[in-house]
Amino acid sequence: MNDLNALPDDFVWGAATSAYQIEGAVDEDGRAPSIWDTFSHTPGAIDNDDHGDTACDHYHRYAEDTDLMKRIGLGAYRFSVAWPRVVPQADGRVNAEGLAFYDRLVDGLLEAGITPHGTLYHWDLPQAQQDRGGWPERSTAERFGEYAAVVADRLGDRVTHWATLNEPLCSSWIGHLEGKMAPGWTDLRAAVRTSYHLHLGHGLAVQALRAAIPDAQVGIVNNLSPIIPASDSEADRLAAVRADGHINRWWLDPVLGRGYPEDMVKLYGVELPVQDGDMELISAPLDWMGLNYYFRQFVADDPTGAAPFFRQTPGPNAEHTAMGWEVDAEGIHQLLMRLTEEYGVRKIFITENGSAYQDVVTADGRIEDPERTAYLEGHLAACARAVAKGAPLAGYFAWSLLDNFEWAYGYDKRFGLIHVDYDTQKRTLKASGERYAELIRAHRAR
Ligand code: FCB
Repeated sequence: MNDLNALPDDFVWGAATSAYQIEGAVDEDGRAPSIWDTFSHTPGAIDNDDHGDTACDHYHRYAEDTDLMKRIGLGAYRFSVAWPRVVPQADGRVNAEGLAFYDRLVDGLLEAGITPHGTLYHWDLPQAQQDRGGWPERSTAERFGEYAAVVADRLGDRVTHWATLNEPLCSSWIGHLEGKMAPGWTDLRAAVRTSYHLHLGHGLAVQALRAAIPDAQVGIVNNLSPIIPASDSEADRLAAVRADGHINRWWLDPVLGRGYPEDMVKLYGVELPVQDGDMELISAPLDWMGLNYYFRQFVADDPTGAAPFFRQTPGPNAEHTAMGWEVDAEGIHQLLMRLTEEYGVRKIFITENGSAYQDVVTADGRIEDPERTAYLEGHLAACARAVAKGAPLAGYFAWSLLDNFEWAYGYDKRFGLIHVDYDTQKRTLKASGERYAELIRAHRAR
């Protein structure tokens, strides 16, 4: 496909997953519950009362899953390490059996010629840490730094690419302000303190990774959205500035050395628990930034709602995924250019991008998913356009390798390149997965 010509020769072709969404085996080999075990077993919290107890059974089927990655031709695989497997309890004891699973996974990936890209935290805080106050407390950031050191010591000889956090926006705003993700709180003060301590934990983890891994390639993964005012009114324009602060700037500015955006600090009215040296830790130089892109957001003023006083309004494009998310490939291009031009980022990975659609298995067992294929092609072409204009995009990780536990939406929302039959755990490569394999082959052969 000519559209992709601008992508560099050493472009990294990957796919992503996260521990709680695929592993299952929640009480095996010394794993203790995380806040997501607690939340998903809270009646009414998750569609269909689904939970991650078995998920894709990847804990036992990782070898088969690695074979499938090889079949697609992936050059890299982004996975997350489950903190509650590695340091399950509050006492700090390291669980050797939990670490051993990631040893096996990583060794298998390397044998298959697939570069492992690890993420230290994809939302599964050990419940024992939650019971001691969770992310609103500074001690949780310190425990995260210690856990990062344990993982780095054990896997750092084979895994050099690390992300500290996945989408701290979701842990903070959705988990502690909107209450729709674990731990299910609706408390602005707790949410703001959570965001701060996640950033501090990120800084401590960067330090631990660099100390243990001489050639570490360290980054952080944020989900960002282009923000567009719903109308020309001054009120909506100002709402868009606040929304941009809440969704984008709050997550980029402190990490990239600009400090927390003043307008948002004022708006939240929550004192940040900053101690000497914190901001240096939080803004320590990174090797790359991860961008997860799903949708742009149209926003309107909402003076009677909760801080930060905006609400999302529907976008104009006709096409939506099964999540109800407006399809807009141009948004990924805009965000890549913003990171490049406004923030001066020098290396970017698309760490997630993908779509859920209502897949149908045909009588002969195939999954034809033309919408997902079009989404993939359209977003990759938009990435290539950004590269042609100078964006330092080093790779793309499709979300997701497998259909999996889509958090509050449960198993109904399927994002995989590979279909999972949850009754039998049978995996089937979808047509979009075949297409991705073809694009990867064509890019390598050019
Ligand atoms: C992102 C999450 C990921 C997945 C996708 C659809 O917000 O990082 O785990 O659920 O959305």
